[in-house]
Amino acid sequence: MIKHFIDLDNFTKTELRNILNFAAKMKKNQKKYSNILNNKSLGLLFEKESTRTRVSFNIGIQKLGGNAIELDSKKIGFGKRESISDILQTLSQYIDVLMIRNNSHEELVQCASYNKISIINGLSNYSHPCQVLSDIFTITEKLGKIENKQITWLGDFNNVLTSLIHAAEIFNFKLNILIPKKIMEIAKKDLGNKKLVYSNFCYDFDKALKNSDCVMTDTWISMGEKKSQSKLKILKKFQVNDAIMKKAKKQAIFMHCLPAHRNEEVTDSVIDSNKSLVWEQAKNRMYVQQSILYYLLKNVKK
Ligand code: CP
Ligand code: NVA
Repeated sequence: MIKHFIDLDNFTKTELRNILNFAAKMKKNQKKYSNILNNKSLGLLFEKESTRTRVSFNIGIQKLGGNAIELDSKKIGFGKRESISDILQTLSQYIDVLMIRNNSHEELVQCASYNKISIINGLSNYSHPCQVLSDIFTITEKLGKIENKQITWLGDFNNVLTSLIHAAEIFNFKLNILIPKKIMEIAKKDLGNKKLVYSNFCYDFDKALKNSDCVMTDTWISMGEKKSQSKLKILKKFQVNDAIMKKAKKQAIFMHCLPAHRNEEVTDSVIDSNKSLVWEQAKNRMYVQQSILYYLLKNVKK
């Protein structure tokens, strides 16, 4: 059976825990695992820019004995020169797993539904599961068990937040979502009937941040989105700065998936402070994705 990694809410807590536990083992001793993906090939298909995802996947599989090839979607005419199903059939004869970063989550789900090759969501307009699973790894490493921790998200409603909502429901942590009312109304419509058991939309900064173990944010304008001055204006109040961090627990950490727009969604004083885990977050992407690759490819016979 071909396995895919599209969204966190496709998995049970046990499956995700297993991926995280194996990532921790590999992080401790990379050499021990240097052959576990021998001869396995990963395709990396980007419709959008990327630094961390691109490099951590490419180097990550090489460190496990496999190899990677970059596929610029324009160069291969993805979705244009031939049907997506035909291109996936072709690719499946050369490579074992395909990571896709694209604009259309529907297209990504469609790619997986053909079941021709394992598909990994390397960020879509809807979600960013590799990032958030790896952030759960980083939080656990720093603060211990994620269960019952409190995370407050400030800023835009975007792909990273969607995966964080999935994670909150799976791992039972409390997620406070502190975003402008206007953005919240649009987001709630998009979410439809989805239950938000562990997530609260908040308007009260003090209430949301009090008792928070972690303050998280992301860029206010995501890739593929038109820059809007009015959006930037309503988000100004939601910048993570020293005053915001002071409202959280004394030992609270700051997280951001990067790339950051310094002094827009977060001030230099916070991102460069000793509360900030942004570099650990970027580093841990590799171990967690190595573990995702292993989860998808082990037992797969070609
Ligand atoms: N956080 C993240 O996915 O970074 P890149 O866009 O650089 O891959
Ligand atoms: N929300 C951001 C995440 C980048 C890793 C974007 O989609 O651009």
